[in-house]
Amino acid sequence: MLDLIKTRKSVRKYSEKHIPDSDLRKILEAGRLAPSWMNVQSWKFILVKSEENKSLLSELSIGQPHVKNADALIVCIADLDTWTKAGITKIENPTINPALQGENGLLIRTMEQIVYPISYMMLMAESLGISSCIIGALGNEITGTNPDLYKKVKETLGLNDNQILSTIITLGYEKEPINIPKTRKDFDDVISLEKIGNKF
Ligand SMILES: Cc1cc2nc3c(=O)[nH]c(=O)nc-3n(C[C@H](O)[C@H](O)[C@H](O)COP(=O)(O)O)c2cc1C
Repeated sequence: MLDLIKTRKSVRKYSEKHIPDSDLRKILEAGRLAPSWMNVQSWKFILVKSEENKSLLSELSIGQPHVKNADALIVCIADLDTWTKAGITKIENPTINPALQGENGLLIRTMEQIVYPISYMMLMAESLGISSCIIGALGNEITGTNPDLYKKVKETLGLNDNQILSTIITLGYEKEPINIPKTRKDFDDVISLEKIGNKF
């Protein structure tokens, strides 16, 4: 598992080779099985393979070429309505009920949940030899950029007002495999024992 995590990297150039549907299903299944707050599963995933929708989503992502050139995309939707549907809103304690944490709290919690399936799907893809890149630089309710195009994307993908297009995962086979060393903060810089600054 650690080797997989170490070798995964964001890939932005893909070969022409297509990902079999059976592998796409495995990746999506890994996302579906991710954990969430009280099992609310406040997410939807849209698999995009058509050139038309890839182009539209690339445009939404400030023209990032890898969104257009990826073999497939997984559009990750944070669904604000799920909490009500799951009955969690009936719980009166705000500590365990994000709906009582204010509008911002609910938004943050819903965005928080989507990170887990995204991570699961990226690692599942990597385990199948399929590269990926997370796309967060796009127009949506969070960034507030490109509202007209975002409206068009939401209509095209069938999203309602409470469904936020949070992230896109690009998927494909790496065009020219290269080994880039991971640039990360040092272990002791980010990990402490008992108290910030105490080494583990
Ligand atoms: C929330 C989030 C948003 C990101 N948005 C973009 C993006 O819009 N475009 C892009 O090319 N990479 C994006 N990335 C990828 C990061 O740049 C990349 O993960 C980081 O530089 C570390 O490199 P690595 O993934 O190769 O280890 C994003 C990553 C995260 C976690």
